[in-house]
Amino acid sequence: MDKNNTLRLIDLFCGCGGMSYGFASEGFDVAVGLDNWPDSLVTFERNHPHAKGIVLDLSDFNSADLRKRIGAVDVVVGGPPCQGFSISGKRNPGDPRNKLYQGFVKIVREFKPRAFILENVPNLVSMDGGMIRKSLIKDFVSLGYDVKYKILLASDYGVPQNRRRVVFVGIQGKNNFEFPEGTCKDQKTKITCFQALSDLPEGSLAEGTLNQQKPKSEYQVLMRKNGGKIFNHQITTHDKKTIETIALVPDGGNYKDLPKRLQGTRKVHIAWTRYSSKKPSLTIDTGHRHHFHYKYNRIPTVRESARLQSFPDDFIFCGTKTSQYKQVGNAVPPLMAKAIAKELKKAFI
Ligand SMILES: C[S@@+](CC[C@H](N)C(=O)[O-])C[C@H]1O[C@@H](n2cnc3c(N)ncnc32)[C@H](O)[C@@H]1O
Repeated sequence: MDKNNTLRLIDLFCGCGGMSYGFASEGFDVAVGLDNWPDSLVTFERNHPHAKGIVLDLSDFNSADLRKRIGAVDVVVGGPPCQGFSISGKRNPGDPRNKLYQGFVKIVREFKPRAFILENVPNLVSMDGGMIRKSLIKDFVSLGYDVKYKILLASDYGVPQNRRRVVFVGIQGKNNFEFPEGTCKDQKTKITCFQALSDLPEGSLAEGTLNQQKPKSEYQVLMRKNGGKIFNHQITTHDKKTIETIALVPDGGNYKDLPKRLQGTRKVHIAWTRYSSKKPSLTIDTGHRHHFHYKYNRIPTVRESARLQSFPDDFIFCGTKTSQYKQVGNAVPPLMAKAIAKELKKAFI
């Protein structure tokens, strides 16, 4: 903690910094983000002007050197890629897939933060018959942390997306952390795709165009809170056949709404899904192009995907369009991270 009583944080596998952004909006001092993907760090640094992005392979590094370079921290957050957990048979620390997770453990061991937050896909809880979860908890207990975990649903926290993620919270000594309750648990209070996207146009916008439409929801007001300029809204023009096929799917529908001859034209069951304007979206992915706008005959733009992840409009994504989709799809929704950050502060009092 610095002299202003702000809690200093580092973000491992930070990507563009969805998790960091949520913590920063609760007053945490995001000092450093670490990732081996330079593109994502350009976005991270642009949107966290006081933070430093460090390109580092977290499966192979010297933790003492890193500690010297970064200094003391209060909180370590991060979402190691789930391939970083060995999923077959007995856990073998020598399994190369384990090295990413071990990188997280190594940093907690070296930095000894007051708390850590580890986020991941929900099936980590049951993978390998629960073995992965149990040994993860054991690893951190042996370092002096009391660990709690819970599967959270992003739409419970005002995110217009039904994304589930498991969150482990470890605190040195006794763990007084309480998982946030969520202000939008009731279906009627969930933020819908219409509330999230209806002020964004069908066509592309030049970078930095001021949104001319009146906001149609409180959520849109929140997303525009820093000015209302729009970035990353370049549409994808699909081929004629794709446009004609998706045009046959109604708001909230899927491949089952297509004539039989078209139902099998894409080989995955999630294909030809149109978001429902009346519900939160499905989980935003890293750019598989199977989920379409609730109204327009195209996939959502990067900005629309970012809205569904609760990134405000002035959070700008850098890199190619493919890279931007991946950065957005990888992220922890900032509003969910904010809810966790708020509770973590209470646990420290
Ligand atoms: C799920 S994303 C994290 C997203 C981030 N928590 C957020 O909220 O935006 C996982 C990240 O791990 C990074 N990564 C994968 N392998 C890595 C490695 N060996 N060393 C460092 N980072 C790695 C990826 O580049 C990716 O950005």
